[in-house]
Amino acid sequence: MKSPQPIYISAIGCYVPTKIVSNNDLAQSVDTSDEWIHSHTGIRERRIAKPEEQCSDLAVNAALDLFAKSNRKREEIDGIIVATATADHYGFPSTACIVAEKLGIKGAAAFDIGAGCTGFIYALEIARGMIMSGSMTKALVFGSEKLSEVVNWKDRNTCVLFGDGAGCVLLERTEEPKGIIDSTLHAEGAGSLALAITKDTKTITMEGRAVYAFAVRAIGDTVLELLTRNDLTIEDITWIVPHQANHRIIAACSKRYGFDPTMFYLNIERYANTSAASIPIALAEMEEGGLLKSGQKILFVGFGAGLTYGGTLIQW
Ligand code: UT7
Repeated sequence: MKSPQPIYISAIGCYVPTKIVSNNDLAQSVDTSDEWIHSHTGIRERRIAKPEEQCSDLAVNAALDLFAKSNRKREEIDGIIVATATADHYGFPSTACIVAEKLGIKGAAAFDIGAGCTGFIYALEIARGMIMSGSMTKALVFGSEKLSEVVNWKDRNTCVLFGDGAGCVLLERTEEPKGIIDSTLHAEGAGSLALAITKDTKTITMEGRAVYAFAVRAIGDTVLELLTRNDLTIEDITWIVPHQANHRIIAACSKRYGFDPTMFYLNIERYANTSAASIPIALAEMEEGGLLKSGQKILFVGFGAGLTYGGTLIQW
């Protein structure tokens, strides 16, 4: 939806657990190698949460980082949305309510949303719509995942791919001509079982090749949809911040659609796939590294379980 009023990201935070698990560490327990994992995915290592660290704890730490880096106060927050597939207590109560309690935020609307690895893009759009309608004014939007809890550590096809972490942004109105310009959300439910957490084993299963082919198309089509709808060309865009699933997906998409691969911000090497958390973690890093500058047009693109996909066009 195109934005009738400017709503922007005013602050960003992230948190990744301190424990680093390298590809070589994984090769001690499953039949894999650093060479295979890095050449097939771009991943070198991932962060793994402590057993007692829940999805809400990762999110709370991301919010504390946001508050520490900005002059924003938790009393200002009247909306909390957590995109996650790994909610504390199966999402009942919602992780967002637990985050509100742990942060001491009282009375804010708080709920979780599930859209797989596209969750952050969906959550951002829900928050934007609610700010436009007046039902929130300052929303904390999280992607937070403790995927280590739902990974089958004996399955080399999936266990090497995922990591834990959380990122969040503060979304609010501005009088300045910047912020979210447009966004698009999609789902292809026919592919829902290609990437799923199964009820019997409570672990992730994935048809890797099918999801790979979908991902290449989903990124390319989302970028083109948002460009076309807004009379822009790829040259108008400074950064594409994709969900971090596999560097080969980005390379294949760049080749097929003619995008410059260096436009894509990638940090998968260090964190692996953190699902809904990957885009806000990348944003926090980009801000920290001084890569986000006023006036830049940036695209976020998510894809994943559902099969969902979508994107956000934003002017920084
Ligand atoms: O975040 C949600 C979105 N998720 C994605 O976008 C993931 C999309 N899929 C992918 O990124 C890739 O399909 C994978 C990285 C999951 C797999 O890469 P691939 O090049 O498609 O490999 P493959 O599944 O076709 O497997 C090739 C071979 C197989 O052996 P055989 O059957 O040819 O003998 C696998 O058993 O590689 C084997 N293999 C491994 N070998 C060493 C699979 N995983 C591993 C491993 N270490 N960890």
